Amino acid sequence: IMDQKETLARSVNQDEEALKKISELINQAYGTYVIGCGTAGKVALTATYLFSKIAKKHVNFAFGSEFEVCKNFITKDSLIIAISQSGETADTIEAIEIAKSKGATIVSIVNVENSSIARMSDFCLPLKVGPEKAVASTKATTAQLAVLILLAYASINKINEGKQLLLSTSGKINDLLNPRYEDHILELAKNIYTVESMYIIGKGENYPMALESAIKLQEVSYIHAEGFAGGELKHGPLALISQDTPVIVLAPNDENFKHIISNAQEIKARGGYIIGISSINHDTFDYWIRVPEADIDSPIINIIPVQILSYHLALLKNNDPDMPRNLAKSVTVK
Ligand code: G6P
Repeated sequence: IMDQKETLARSVNQDEEALKKISELINQAYGTYVIGCGTAGKVALTATYLFSKIAKKHVNFAFGSEFEVCKNFITKDSLIIAISQSGETADTIEAIEIAKSKGATIVSIVNVENSSIARMSDFCLPLKVGPEKAVASTKATTAQLAVLILLAYASINKINEGKQLLLSTSGKINDLLNPRYEDHILELAKNIYTVESMYIIGKGENYPMALESAIKLQEVSYIHAEGFAGGELKHGPLALISQDTPVIVLAPNDENFKHIISNAQEIKARGGYIIGISSINHDTFDYWIRVPEADIDSPIINIIPVQILSYHLALLKNNDPDMPRNLAKSVTVK
């Protein structure tokens, strides 16, 4: 987690020629499909929001294990962007094989540069974050988000604008990751580590981050955690809220703020304990985790306090945060 002080800046340092070439492919493709599994899958879903907002472009999303549904639409003019830390995930590899059999072009965003996925790809953008040993992905996740943001900017000929934005994000992370900040999150972890369930809500590009937050919490704290789109609460999940149920609200100070706050108020009215992750405080928040002001980079900024919270919950519950039960770092079987 702490490596993210440096890794984000490293991931932004991509070969401009490769970025331009991949941008051309995105602009010419008859359908771009962003795919991945687990955390990389949540990042792939985030790409649909990032490309829409930054570049006004439609990209499709599928988990590697669910790519089958896209199979009938893939042609030689399709473009696949596969995201993977290890580059060895069997479900992602199988999806690539399907796409290759149809003649599609494969771009990958991977951390392990000599991995199977990197070798199967026509173009590869490396994450450059160094070995990620813990099962739960952290620094690879934020680097994947950064590379996708950069690629979205590159696709509208604004590489430098994207780079500047992400370098400023990197500076903000550097300020964030200090012992006092961690203590503030540890305090929260001590309040909630005995709960059975917790929920996370987000909107827009922070909706996939709510899903990713849930994975992070599940993986190492073994607390039942689920992420929802804030607007979907009233269609079911609100029934799960009882007195003191912790709910993390990803609330960047953007056009979605008032909507997600209104969702938080609905939860609070049912007794929920609201943990606000936001650059600004709000009276709905029972516990405020302050994050720096962010723009389209808010998914990167918002996931970091959740990583720290998950880590401390794991320690408080005597779980091994690096090697959670039942999970593997790289799932190379179907
Ligand atoms: C496993 C790991 C996750 C990871 C997923 C995809 O389930 O435990 O942390 O997100 O695989 O791995 P990849 O290497 O393809 O990113």
